Amino acid sequence: MTQVFTPPPRLLMGPGPIDADPRVLKAMSSQLLGQFDPSMTACMDLTMAAYRDVFATSNQWTFLVDSTSRGAIEAAMVSMLEPGDKVLVPIFGRFGHLLCEIASRCGAVVTKIEVPWGQVFPQEQIIEAILKERPKLLALVQGDTSTTMLQPLSALGRVCHENDVLLYCDATASIGGNVLDTDDWMLDVVSVGLQKCLCGPSGSAPITLNDRAVSLIQGRKHIEAGLRSDGQEEGQGRVISSNYFDLSMIIDYWSKARLNHHTEATSMLYAAYECARILLEEGLTEAIERHELNGRALASGLAALNLRLFGDQQNRMNNVVGVYIPEDVPGEKIRHEMLMDFGIEIGTSFGPLHGVIWRIGTMGYNARPDAVLKTLACLEQCLLASGHRLSPGESVAEARAIYRAASDQPTQAPLEAVK
Ligand SMILES: Cc1ncc(COP(=O)(O)O)c(C=O)c1O
Repeated sequence: MTQVFTPPPRLLMGPGPIDADPRVLKAMSSQLLGQFDPSMTACMDLTMAAYRDVFATSNQWTFLVDSTSRGAIEAAMVSMLEPGDKVLVPIFGRFGHLLCEIASRCGAVVTKIEVPWGQVFPQEQIIEAILKERPKLLALVQGDTSTTMLQPLSALGRVCHENDVLLYCDATASIGGNVLDTDDWMLDVVSVGLQKCLCGPSGSAPITLNDRAVSLIQGRKHIEAGLRSDGQEEGQGRVISSNYFDLSMIIDYWSKARLNHHTEATSMLYAAYECARILLEEGLTEAIERHELNGRALASGLAALNLRLFGDQQNRMNNVVGVYIPEDVPGEKIRHEMLMDFGIEIGTSFGPLHGVIWRIGTMGYNARPDAVLKTLACLEQCLLASGHRLSPGESVAEARAIYRAASDQPTQAPLEAVK
């Protein structure tokens, strides 16, 4: 006998995933369509168009990779890199290490530059490294959830273009909650996931590639035997060493050629499209402002709990805040109590920050005052019970004052207008 599985009610206030918007869950429960049903291909085209707006790009090749976010990172790298290629990775957290790891598995020769976790690079430092190393690819993360830091990027694309360097950016955790201007910043390839500020589940990875990146990848196109037809153009370059993540074939699947490369994850396509619609209906600027306001209220409320904020606050992501776990409290016990007594999930971090900081997110569907205020109120209870010194009531009052001040400003969107 199998058991019914009913997920318990939770408020996911960690670094992601977060609770999906009910609209996304509803879209996912729609019936499936055949692979090449005109309605299915119309939905794919609509999704491409919507994600062009989400990425702020006019790139034709803007589509979904059927995988979690790291699948799109892997697809970008394996499709662009050949053994021996030089890659430069600025690391300011766990996900920079992931980029190195994936590039190395592609046989690339990786040069790392690092800053301590909790800081970002001055852009000049990255530019200096580009000019010194002259890599084929600069790969970096925009918002590294492991440290909550947001790397400024706007000046890097021009330098890369002038020096014939490709620029890949992982914006999984930042898109929708922080400014990302793919075309204005001259980013060649950007990939993301749905499970942070885009209000969806993980399992689909939107990606955008400009002509520079696409022409490199198309030069390596080798269509698998059994799908190849007469007159189909093949590249001269080295075969891309993954079939599943071969972006030249995936592009053909999303193109008019409709190459039967894989079976599209239809329910995730519906989810991804609805995520984009939700964001675009709200407006990119409005969504970013909402994340900024909720992130600021959360950070101030945490500081009012007599907690020390982690990292360079000038370069913090809008959607996730790190705080040091005070030495006088049992960090994991408090996370457990938050989950079991209040149904609220908060995160710790990785590597050197594991057990040192908590990461508390307010993103996507959960970038809302009620979610932030509840989290602060419950965390206060847990901290008080463990003997941490704080002024009861101050945290929620501090966050509410920020919301009230914001709603008094005529330029702010109404706070309750999450949807
Ligand atoms: C910046 C960043 N990149 C990549 C990933 C990996 O995403 P996934 O677990 O969806 O593969 C994450 C996940 O948290 C992330 O925050």
